[in-house]
Amino acid sequence: MESLVINGGNRLKGQIRISGAKNAALPILAASLLSPEPITVHNLPALEDVKIFVSLLRELGVSVESGTEEGQKGVVCLDAANLSSFEAPHDLVRKMRASVLVLGPLMARLGRARVSLPGGCAIGARPIDIHLKGLELMGAKYSIAGGFVEVKTRGLKGARIYLDFPSVTGTENLMMAAVLARGTSVIENAAKEPEITDLARMLNSMGARITGAGSSTLNIEGVSGLSGTEWSIIPDRIETGTYIMAAGAAGGELELIGAEAGHLESAITKLRAAGLKIECSQNAIRVRSRGRLKSVDIKTQPYPGFPTDLQAQFMVLMARAGGLSVITENIFENRFMHVAELQRLGADIKIEGRSAIIKGVKKLTGAPVAATDLRASASLVLAGLAAQGRTEITEIYHLDRGYEDMEKKLRGVGADISRITHEGGSGK
Ligand code: EPZ
Repeated sequence: MESLVINGGNRLKGQIRISGAKNAALPILAASLLSPEPITVHNLPALEDVKIFVSLLRELGVSVESGTEEGQKGVVCLDAANLSSFEAPHDLVRKMRASVLVLGPLMARLGRARVSLPGGCAIGARPIDIHLKGLELMGAKYSIAGGFVEVKTRGLKGARIYLDFPSVTGTENLMMAAVLARGTSVIENAAKEPEITDLARMLNSMGARITGAGSSTLNIEGVSGLSGTEWSIIPDRIETGTYIMAAGAAGGELELIGAEAGHLESAITKLRAAGLKIECSQNAIRVRSRGRLKSVDIKTQPYPGFPTDLQAQFMVLMARAGGLSVITENIFENRFMHVAELQRLGADIKIEGRSAIIKGVKKLTGAPVAATDLRASASLVLAGLAAQGRTEITEIYHLDRGYEDMEKKLRGVGADISRITHEGGSGK
C-alpha cells in the first residue's frame, strides 16, 4: 500500500504543465465505439481511470494501441471496427462509475448494452435514472436484474428529452446515443461543462450534426454513420484549479502551462476575492499568494458555477483564512468526507446539512490522514503543504485516479513530498 509523506511549510515557485482533462478523456474514449473507422486521441493523461476505461473498451472488442516512440506519450489509436461484446463487467464498472459512458455509444452502434450498475461511491448514490429515462424516450427498453442494467432497442429514434438535472455524463451518454438515431433529438436542461462542448466538437469532426453545445439546449440531427477522426484532449480545469489553490495553501507563485482560464471563470473570481493574484494569458495562468487569505463563501453549482470538484480544495484555503466562511455543496449529497481529516490537522469546521462553516485558524499541524475519494485526497495534499510538520496520507490510490504525477509536479516547484510503499495490500 502506498502513501504520500509531506513536510509542510515550503513556499512553491516555478512552472507546472497541466495534463489533459480526465473528464474530457473518458467520454472521448467512449465515442470511439461510435465509428468503424480508427480514432487517434492526443494529450491523453496517464491516469488510473483512463487505464480502466481502455481495459473496458478492449473488453468490448476495441483494439487500442498506445504510442510508444518518444513524443508519442499520451497518443492512443482506437479501432472499433469489430465490436465483440456489449457488456461492461462489474469488476471494471465498480472501480470507475464513468464506465457508464459506454451505454449511449453501444446503444447507438449495436442497439444493445448490458452495464453493471455503477453503484454508489464515497460522495453519493450516483444513480443513472436520467441516462435511462432519456434512452427510453429514444425508443429503448431497459430492465434491471442481478446488479446489471440491460438496455435494448430495435433502433433509436430522435426525441425531445428534458433532463431533471443537468447531469454531465447523462448529457454525454444521450448525445452519443442521439448522433446515430433516426431523426432529430433535442436535449433540454443539458449540462454546459467544457467537456461537453469538446465532445460535441469531436463528434461533429466525425460527421455528427450537433448544435447548441455549451448551452442548455442541444440539437442533434441523427446521421447514418460516423467516420474516424483525430482529436486532442482539452487541459484539465480541475487539475488547474487544484494547483492554483496549492499556491494559495503553501504560499509562493506558480505558472500553470497549458491552462485554459476560460474554463475556470467562477473559481478564479472566488480565488481573487480570497486574495490570490491571478493573471491569465493565452494558454497559461500565473498565480501569486502573499499573506493570509480572506474568508469567502461559495456554493457549488453546475457549470459555469463554482465546480463541485474544487470544493474540497477550496475548503483547505478557507481553513486558514482570516475569518468565517460557508461552503455549500449543492451537487452531491455526501461530499464532505475530507472535513473529518482536515479537523485532524487542526481545522475548525462544522457541518450543518449541505453547508460547512469554516472558522479560519492561524496554523494547521501535520498528522496521519486517509484519503476517501479523488478530490478529497487532493485537498489533503494541499493541507499537508500548508501544515507545519509531517503529514502522511494513506489510500492514495484515490489520488492516482485523477492526477497525473502529482507529487512529481509539486516536487518540481519546491514541495517536500514523496511517495512511500508499505508492505501489505494494494488498498483497492
Ligand atoms: C461528472 O460526474 C464528473 N465525472 C464528476 O467528476 C463531477 O463531479 C460531476 O460530473 C458534476 O460536475 C465525469 O465527468 C467522469 P452528474 P457525473 O451526473 O456525470 C445526480 C471527479 O472528481 N444524478 O452531473 O456522474 C447525481 O446523483 C468526478 O472528477 C441523478 O440523480 O455527475 C448528482 O447528485 C466526481 N441521476 C448530480 O446529479 C442521474 O441519472 C450530478 O451528477 C445522474 C445524476
